[in-house]
Amino acid sequence: MHKILIVDDEESVRYSFKKLLREPAHKILEAQNGDEALTKVKDEAPDLVILDIQMPGLSGLEVLQQIKKAAPRIPVLIITAYGSSDRVIAAMKHGAYEYIEKPFDIPRMQALIDEALEMGRLMRTEVLLESQAAGDWSADRIIGNSPAIQEVYKMIGRVAGSDVSVLLVGESGTGKELVARAIYQHSQRAGEPFLAVNGAAIPETLLESELFGYEKGAFTGATKRKIGKFQQADGGTLFLDEIGDMSLSTQAKLLRVLQEGTFECLGGDETIQCNVRIITATNKNLEAAIAEKAFREDLYYRIKVITINLPPLRARKEDLPDLIQYFISKHCAQLKSEPVSLAPETLQLLKDYDWPGNVRELENVLKRAILLCKSNVITPDIVAEDLRAAEKCLENGKSDRLSQFVTGDLEQYRGKLYETAVSELERELIIAALQKENGNQVRAAQLLGISRVMLHDRIEKYGIKTEVIIQKV
Ligand SMILES: Nc1ncnc2c1ncn2[C@@H]1O[C@H](COP(=O)(O)OP(=O)(O)OP(=O)(O)O)[C@@H](O)[C@H]1O
Ligand SMILES: [Mg+2]
Repeated sequence: MHKILIVDDEESVRYSFKKLLREPAHKILEAQNGDEALTKVKDEAPDLVILDIQMPGLSGLEVLQQIKKAAPRIPVLIITAYGSSDRVIAAMKHGAYEYIEKPFDIPRMQALIDEALEMGRLMRTEVLLESQAAGDWSADRIIGNSPAIQEVYKMIGRVAGSDVSVLLVGESGTGKELVARAIYQHSQRAGEPFLAVNGAAIPETLLESELFGYEKGAFTGATKRKIGKFQQADGGTLFLDEIGDMSLSTQAKLLRVLQEGTFECLGGDETIQCNVRIITATNKNLEAAIAEKAFREDLYYRIKVITINLPPLRARKEDLPDLIQYFISKHCAQLKSEPVSLAPETLQLLKDYDWPGNVRELENVLKRAILLCKSNVITPDIVAEDLRAAEKCLENGKSDRLSQFVTGDLEQYRGKLYETAVSELERELIIAALQKENGNQVRAAQLLGISRVMLHDRIEKYGIKTEVIIQKV
């Protein structure tokens, strides 16, 4: 459950937020003015503040500055009247996470609230390197004693204190985000913002404006100025996840920021200075991308000053017992279930498995097993099906319709085979997820593991008729 503080002098606005962000997912706190807001921030430590910038008494901007001083890691969303762009820009410069305009665009607002809560989690949930403070599940832990993971601990310690750029390389689910947070939290910039941008979750065409912002009128549809993540993260740390998916023009701009600490926003002629520490991550082979001219070599050398390789789980199976113990305790505590244990045969099964989804897959398998197990022992049959299903899914991952892109007449797709096939798969996945969740976009996005902004974008891109999906079910 998240605690969200709504600060607005108008009761009707607070009421609509209360209706929208209902319990049990969220606990809503209210404040009518700036002074009340500051007291509640101190006493209640909310996860998110939604703040009206135009209030009698202490101005919203002052309240924002004081919140940022008292609790720099609480994200603040600003409510503004349509078209009050000067105030918005001032607020963004003072560390607001984003702004919401009246009248509210509900889907966009919900997406922003989710994003801001996620950013707050990244900044606040502490990452401990060893099993210190056992039993305190408010922190995340990096578990393991294998030589491979100890090498990772050493590297975190070595790079955290300096401002050097770090590249995290590893398969999906190996803990790249966890390590990025650990570096941030142990750095001198721990009190400054930590922003994350996922290159794979944002359409290529939007990524550049997300990072660098744009001027009003920079392109059709740019009705007002947008502050980019580099400017927002000034003084802090920016985590660029899935860096391998960035377009060449965005790469060129990124290179310049890294070399000179300056950039221009889209359609702007003012050169903006920024001081941002960069942590990047990828599960792609960047050297292969360089060979294909899809990734700039000079940028690669800039970002990989220090590279931390996260080992796949199958290369450190000696950590399995510790990881299993950790996840079982954590999820039993969170699910308030009786403590459970593993039958020896189950442990053997987990040890024999290859874990293509790495630690994330292990955690999911165990979480499900805890829910499904009827006694307090996890017997092999409970996990066997999950592991088999995962293996099968890898074997016949392509559906009939999709297999035409591999076995059919490829010539008809010359030059756009990759794009067509990937789009087709993406479209099918999105429809399947929407159908499974009865058209509920929040849950479909969760199922897919993508942001709601991205889901929304793809629904538009493929012209998916969500009303039809709901009726069909
Ligand atoms: N060594 C570890 N100890 C404990 N938990 C871990 C460890 N490594 C990963 N996890 C957990 O596994 C999950 C996946 O980790 P994370 O999101 O950091 O992976 P990732 O490398 O960023 O994956 P992706 O490339 O898919 O984004 C998280 O819930 C994380 O807390
Ligand atoms: Mg990740």
